[in-house]
Amino acid sequence: MKNLTTSELRELYLRFFRERGHAVIASASLVPENDPTALFTMAGMHPLVPYLLGAKHPAGNRLTDVQKCVRTGDIDEVGDESHCTFFEMLGNWSLGDYFKKEAIAWSWEFLTGSEWLGIDKDKLYFTCFAGEGELPRDEEAYESWISMGVDPSHIFYLGKEHNWWGPAGQTGPCGPDTEMFIDTGKEPCGKDCFPGCHCGKYLEIWNDVFMQYNKTAEGKYEPLAQKNVDTGMGLERTVATLQGVPSVYDTDAFTGILSRIAELSGKNYKDSEETKKAFRIIADHMRTATFMLGDPRGVTPSNVDQGYILRRIIRRALRYAMQMGMPEMSLSKVAAAVIDTYGEVYPELNTNRDRIVNELDAEEKKFQRTLLQGTKEFERIKGSFADGRIDGVTAFHLFDTFGFPIEFTEELARENGLTVDMQGFKAAFAEHQAKSKAGAEQKFKGGLADNSEATTRLHSATHLLQAALRKVLKDDTVSQRGSNITAERLRFDFSFPRKVTPEELREVERLVNEAIAADVEITCEEMPIAEAKARGAIGLFENKYGEMVKVYTMGKYSCEMCGGPHASRTGELGTFKIKKEEASSSGVRRIKAVLE
Ligand code: ALA
Repeated sequence: MKNLTTSELRELYLRFFRERGHAVIASASLVPENDPTALFTMAGMHPLVPYLLGAKHPAGNRLTDVQKCVRTGDIDEVGDESHCTFFEMLGNWSLGDYFKKEAIAWSWEFLTGSEWLGIDKDKLYFTCFAGEGELPRDEEAYESWISMGVDPSHIFYLGKEHNWWGPAGQTGPCGPDTEMFIDTGKEPCGKDCFPGCHCGKYLEIWNDVFMQYNKTAEGKYEPLAQKNVDTGMGLERTVATLQGVPSVYDTDAFTGILSRIAELSGKNYKDSEETKKAFRIIADHMRTATFMLGDPRGVTPSNVDQGYILRRIIRRALRYAMQMGMPEMSLSKVAAAVIDTYGEVYPELNTNRDRIVNELDAEEKKFQRTLLQGTKEFERIKGSFADGRIDGVTAFHLFDTFGFPIEFTEELARENGLTVDMQGFKAAFAEHQAKSKAGAEQKFKGGLADNSEATTRLHSATHLLQAALRKVLKDDTVSQRGSNITAERLRFDFSFPRKVTPEELREVERLVNEAIAADVEITCEEMPIAEAKARGAIGLFENKYGEMVKVYTMGKYSCEMCGGPHASRTGELGTFKIKKEEASSSGVRRIKAVLE
């Protein structure tokens, strides 16, 4: 087995698939475009959903990439051997081109070939889909492994909870998968231990998904006209396996970041289990925060949506940084180590270096103020608990009104000889969450919406809105900072320094409705980025699929680079109405609008 660094594995993987006819595409933004149900890109396939459903990709039907991903569902597990909130996923795609046999043969060659990973064949194990209900057993995948020379005792058939992937949301592309594992040589946890068991004997390093079904809103699996391959190899995890180290934090990707934390704290990663966990949490959270802040669609800490997750991650890191005795304004210095590690592969981090550092420092100052106020409030009320126990409602009040983390309340309580009714706190918290965070939490889990007609029309209206805003506000710097569409409304965030006046909003509305009344055709053309720019198309040009891009034109009204899909004519959109204009974060305005 080859011992590769993180960048060596990135390069090797892309080269392997490039040599096999795949176009290397750039990582898409961490913030999904026009996806109402997911806050962050959570897999390599996520930005490719329209293409898995049949849209033509400008770079062709064989693609490969390294995609930045965020999954925060397991945030409380971070600190153990394998959980990260940010990770890079290596992937290769067939969009209706090759299928199971070829995908499996290439996976085998890349894993075992001496020129590639050179993994000992005896150490590899595989799982295939066993079939369930109307869905047949995946014998083709099984036979493909056998034809590679794999011993049948190394292949396991497993059910849907193991060997089925997708859809990412309620509906959409999905299918059986075959997963590849390395036997670590550890003792099995029992006689029923198998690849897929979480005891740590078998490590999953790659997953080939055969996207051959579309799950409908009624829960039916319809065969897709186009059969696709979607594969995902976790970069950090695979590097850890190749380097023979116990966790992703022990790979070269984290060396610079962990040593910066050691310098700042004067402590050592390996001092104790406690320091190890704290170092890992700070390192993971700062890596995630740096990529969120430095994304082309940069996220800003706030109390809603992406900004809420980012704030939560920064504050959690800060809490551990304080525990480790790191001086004030340390987080931005850890972020600098992240930028140094990743800046070459993700140049947006270098471009946005100032923004990353400034936002982190500002957020830290804000949090320090919060802590000060919370501590004052605690001092004021601490004598009023007759039985020495802080009730749940009070603890929640400190949390909710003062933004005071519950761990701080517990700590202060301990120092003052008090206890906290944690069960009461959790009950108060759960009640509040159920009431107000239901929407956000739903999105937090990730998932994709379907491309219903309503969202498609609202997507086209979003283009007209952006064009009209630029015209009315006479400002070319008005640019998209976020877009979120549900079946009912569009929401558009854009950079602009002040409130948009009611007169201006009326004019924007009028222009959009004028474009709709003109009933012009909505056309799509593929062209090189340079030509799109020359035509004055607007859009995020960095980090977009290689050289060729799609440009959607709506007569003289709008010309924008975008992946689609869109309505066929503007006349299909109905009547455009702005419902609300408000601040989204500093320097960013938000408009909510509907089509009636
Ligand atoms: N989409 C598959 C995954 O994320 C490859 O594991």
